[in-house]
Amino acid sequence: MENKRGSWASNIGFLMAAIGSAVGLGNIWGFPYKMGKCGGFSFLIVYLLLAIFVGMIIMASELALGRKTRKSPIAAYQAVSKKYSWLGWLAVIAPFLIMTFYSVLGGYCIYYIAINLGGLFSGNMPDSSSFGAMLTSIPVSIGILVAFMVICMLIVAGGVSGGIEKFNKIGMPALAVMLVIIIIKSWTLPNAGEGLKFMFVPGYAVKGGFIDQSPDFISILGTAGGQMFFSLSLAMGAMITYGSYLDKGENLVKNSVIIVVSDTLVALMAGLAVIPAAVANGINSGKAVSEIKLNGPNLLFSTLQDVFHDMGRVGGLFGIIFYLLVLIAAISSAISLMEVLTAHFIDKAHEQGKEADRKKVTLIVSAVITLVGLLVAADGLGSNGFSPAEIFHSANVKGWNDCWLDFMDTWSEGIAMPVGAMLMGIMIGGELGPDFILDEIHSGEKSSGFDKFYKICVTYVVPVVMCFVLAGQMKDFFGNSAASYIIAIVILVIFAAWTYLTKKKAAK
Ligand code: PFF
Repeated sequence: MENKRGSWASNIGFLMAAIGSAVGLGNIWGFPYKMGKCGGFSFLIVYLLLAIFVGMIIMASELALGRKTRKSPIAAYQAVSKKYSWLGWLAVIAPFLIMTFYSVLGGYCIYYIAINLGGLFSGNMPDSSSFGAMLTSIPVSIGILVAFMVICMLIVAGGVSGGIEKFNKIGMPALAVMLVIIIIKSWTLPNAGEGLKFMFVPGYAVKGGFIDQSPDFISILGTAGGQMFFSLSLAMGAMITYGSYLDKGENLVKNSVIIVVSDTLVALMAGLAVIPAAVANGINSGKAVSEIKLNGPNLLFSTLQDVFHDMGRVGGLFGIIFYLLVLIAAISSAISLMEVLTAHFIDKAHEQGKEADRKKVTLIVSAVITLVGLLVAADGLGSNGFSPAEIFHSANVKGWNDCWLDFMDTWSEGIAMPVGAMLMGIMIGGELGPDFILDEIHSGEKSSGFDKFYKICVTYVVPVVMCFVLAGQMKDFFGNSAASYIIAIVILVIFAAWTYLTKKKAAK
């Protein structure tokens, strides 16, 4: 029986839900492109090291914080910290901002399933021009956003084990099977090897003409770190919330390793599916490689649609399979973001001695996200004349104000996420002390070899690496490299000094 707050029916159900949260659009369009653009194998190595030394550590910390307090992020931070009680707000505002554009992108997947279905039946396969047509049709963009939100709302309203766990237990294995089908199809296209070179051969993206600059180590660190955080759903309250429904008997370290490894494997598999197809088809249809778009929404909704178009009628079938798998990935991530908000209001009501109705809370949360999402949907990635730059008559800086999607992304993924993770490291290492979290990780059992590793990583590695990630993200979004590094280092130094110096004083 699920209690009032909710709980997972089984550890495997929790794992599917957590992997579902991690596996999302970030894996499918972010990872392979960034890997190719940013050093190939060197990116992969940096990514893996960061995933082990930082991602795994924050994952275990968030799950432990949630399970220890049995609360959603705002209440959880308030329960454990005096200095950082406000950090929970970042972990609730950021998921809201992400949802305002994630829902729009999820809606695009529904549209693409529909047009591929139409192509399969009529034999008239849609191509990349569908993307522009969809973006500039405001009623269509709004309709598919609402459709996506209704699906997510119904799942979240179903509860933790009855909705979220059930969806992921079917959705994740289905996603894996569909991914394998697409990989096989993709690799059998002539010239698919060129795409693999894009991903794995260091410098190939530069030599091949895909990009015109070779990255330095700091760029690789910033890009890989930002990607890893987004991909693992960290510093967004999602893993704190999912951890709060977890049974005391479950092994948090093992669970964290499984989530991190699975997410990375799916990211690699997604790369192996989409990049060879996109590059091969571009070359086969006589495009110069520099013209092949492999980045962001263009990769998914324009370049790949051309691949399905060029396959003829059967492309409709592969298109449906592909966009369905992307839709499942988007839903499983979106419901974790929505659960952060839903759990917050349910806990808040409970604190005030009332019992909230989950269905009502989910409806209100969904409605507010949809309302703000309308702006992002109607903006059509800046196609319709009211991007932030146009409204505020500011210079159009590619990255943060060229469209509402990028604007929301900048504040959530670009700022809130790295700042939240950096300060979480300082809070655990400096204010609470790592043993506070380790006690929960061991759940009463003896300590293990993991403890030393955890203490060093959470106290030193996490804050310093996150400082570079924050600088890298700001540089990407705002374009000023020196200022980004200075601001990130100043934030790190101020908070570390405040935490450690006031702790010493209190101890005296
Ligand atoms: N991990 C998701 C992706 O890779 O697309 C995005 C995401 C979901 C980020 C949930 C944060 C989160 F809390």
